[in-house]
Amino acid sequence: MPEKLTVKGREQLLSLLQAEHERNSHISEKFIEQTAVSLGLSVSEVYGVATFYHLLSIKPLGRNVIRVCKCFPCYLKSSQLVVETIQKELGISPGETTPDGRFSFQLTNCIGACDQAPAMLLNHDLHGCLTPAKIVKVLQAYP
Ligand code: FES
Repeated sequence: MPEKLTVKGREQLLSLLQAEHERNSHISEKFIEQTAVSLGLSVSEVYGVATFYHLLSIKPLGRNVIRVCKCFPCYLKSSQLVVETIQKELGISPGETTPDGRFSFQLTNCIGACDQAPAMLLNHDLHGCLTPAKIVKVLQAYP
């Protein structure tokens, strides 16, 4: 019978999931199953943690991952324009990856840059005070 996840177990699990995500740009079903066995947890518990955090993905992602903040402060500063500009430039919608694998595009919760709204993360880089022109320039800098 799988054990219930303790706070310490959750921290260990989260570290394993983050490391796997860094290595393979996503967390595979196989990794979830293996991790559940190795930690003595149920697959559904591991899956629950893997899908809870916006910065983790169970789908393979592109080389560069765009995460546009969808929260209210950014919304008030026209984050929808950021979304529309990225859609127009890359031809993909949130949740999609470009056919060449160059970009994945996601919406996320607050990234801690409300004072620079509207903001997005591109991989680990923060870009704030976005305008359509600035977005186009930023995207060009990521091969
Ligand atoms: S609300 Fe957008 S960065 Fe905080």
